[in-house]
Parts: sequence; C-alpha cells; structure tokens
Amino acid sequence: MVDYKKIGLVNTRAMFAKAVDGGYAIPAFNFNNMEQMQAIIMAAVETKSPVIMQVSRGARDYANQTLLRYMAEGAVEYAKELGCKHPEIVLHLDHGDSFETCKSCIDMGFSSVMIDGSSLPYDENVAVTKRVVEYAHQFDVTVEGELGVLAGVEDEVASEESHYTKPEEVIDFVTKTGVDSLAISIGTSHGAYKFTPEQCTVDPETGRLLPPPLAFDVLEAIEKKLPGFPIVLHGSSSVPQDAVDTINANGGNLKAAVGIPEEQLRKASKSAVCKINIDSDSRLAMTAAVRKHLAENPGHFDPRQYLKPARESMKQMYMHKIINVLGSNDKLIKQ
Ligand code: G3H
Ligand code: 13P
Ligand code: ZN
Repeated sequence: MVDYKKIGLVNTRAMFAKAVDGGYAIPAFNFNNMEQMQAIIMAAVETKSPVIMQVSRGARDYANQTLLRYMAEGAVEYAKELGCKHPEIVLHLDHGDSFETCKSCIDMGFSSVMIDGSSLPYDENVAVTKRVVEYAHQFDVTVEGELGVLAGVEDEVASEESHYTKPEEVIDFVTKTGVDSLAISIGTSHGAYKFTPEQCTVDPETGRLLPPPLAFDVLEAIEKKLPGFPIVLHGSSSVPQDAVDTINANGGNLKAAVGIPEEQLRKASKSAVCKINIDSDSRLAMTAAVRKHLAENPGHFDPRQYLKPARESMKQMYMHKIINVLGSNDKLIKQ
C-alpha cells in the first residue's frame, strides 16, 4: 500500500472546494508518455496552477499503470526542480471500469479515482460507486462518479430517452454513494468528432462548422439540486482548427473534426464545474507539430528532433487552457 501523500501528491478535495468558490475549473489532462507529462508540469508550474494528471484505460494498456504512477512521483520532483515549492498534483484514474481497477490504483498511490458506472443500470451504478468510495475514503483518496451517458447531441435527437444527466437523480446518487465529485452529461463527448456536420451550422464568414450549444439548462438544474457540489465535464476538447489545418496540410486527413467552443467551456468553468477533462487537444497539438516538423525536415530521424517541438506545442496549448479558458492560473493554495 503506497501512501500518495508521502510521494507529494494531493487529492481533489481542497482544490475543488477552492475552485467552486472561486468560479474556475481545474484542468484534468490525460497523459500517456514522458513528453505529455513534462508539458503538463511545465505549463502548471509556469502558470502556478493546480493540475490533475489522469490515466485512462488506453494509457494503462499503452504505457503500463506502474510506470505512469512512477512518472507522477517524478512529476512532483520535476515541478519542484522547475521552481514550484508546493505543487498541487493529483494522480487520477480516468474512467475506472471496476472496483478492482480502482482498488489497484488506490493501492499503488493514485490520489483520486473515477468509477465510471454510467453505462450500468442506476442501482448497479450506485452499488459499485458506493463500494469504491468506502474503500477509497479509508485512505483519503477522492472519488468521481458519473451519471448520464456521454453520447452527444446526436443521441439526444435520435433517442426517445435522454442521455443527459437527469437532475432528479443527482441528490439520491450523491447521498447514497458518498462521491466527492460528479461527472455529468450535457452534450460533450469524447474524441475529435463530437458532432456530425448535420448537427452544426456553417459560419458564413469562415465556412467552418459551428456546433450546437451545451445543455446549460441541465447544468443549472443540477447546480440547484446540489449547491456547491463539484461537477466534472468530460469530453471537453475544443479541437482547435489551426491544429486540424496543420495536420491536414501535412499529409493528414481529419475531415469535419469539431469540438466544444472555448466560450462555452469558459462559461462552464465559472459555474459548479470544477474539473474539465482534455485529452484530444493534446493529441492534436502533438500530431500537428510532429507532422509539420517531419514534412519540413525529411532528413530527421532522431525522435528528439520532432518530439521537442511537439512537447512545446502541447505546453503552449495547456497554458492557453489554464489561463484563457479554465482560469486556474495563480490558484495554488501555497505559493
Ligand atoms: O476518456 C477518454 C480519454 O480520451 C482516454 O482515451 O482510453 O484512448 O486513452 P484512451
Ligand atoms: P476529449 O476527448 O474531449 O479530450 O475528452 C477527454 C476526456 O473526457 C477524458 O476522460
Ligand atoms: Zn472522459
């Protein structure tokens, strides 16, 4: 059993309370490799922001859960080396699929876990989430649960039953499970293709696709039921058009990629939404930089030559999110 506090990590409790009070959101960036980890830490240190580094199932398959956990321990020391005396870094399990997965992460030093029972029948979601909370809280590890399915607007239109989180369920779920935060569904979804072209309108000036707005009415109804309770938004990449254009101009083929407009995420950050998950934008920043570098330098074959600009591009993207979208800069508890 590894005590995450002994390796300098923190759980989400204090940072979420401060974020809800202050009207900003904590960035939750997925990481799979050293360059992403370095870029996340450099951005968090430069902006004096708390940060959540999260590990998905894909990351555990790709990089190995144990290695990622040791990278997070290294990240704390790296942040200090970069000049941050009191870094606030959470190591979080993203989309934990079972009690066993959550337990294994808690036992090896994760400071926060998500149990994603959102695809289960309600009572089963409650039961597995409650079981994870009971285990996690013994070690002061915080737990994120999820209600509602992140299916996107398409399914809202096509299906008779709404996939959005049902505001009438949230009090019961939070009370029965004891979760520390709740991921909700209000129209965001994972990946770089969040909306079909048919769901979008075309901007007459740029010709680009403009997605439909998020269901802020659902968010407001949830906030009324759970005043001050930490809410989480998954699937919150903006899919920046310049990254998509760079990829397409350098041999890529990402057609009709659409994300969540940053104004909407800015609005959500000011509400009870206090954790915003971003993964795809990091993938796009990295791929755009690598494709551009290799197209311009066909003789390069040392991975450091193309991973260096890729890391810098991710760092700039993370800093932009922190400062201009989520507002978590200068929010460390101890400077
Ligand atoms: O929740 C989805 C994240 O973007 C992680 O995806 O399992 O492919 O790493 P992944
Ligand atoms: P994006 O695919 O929009 O980056 O969402 C990531 C996410 O929600 C990870 O849990
Ligand atoms: Zn997610």
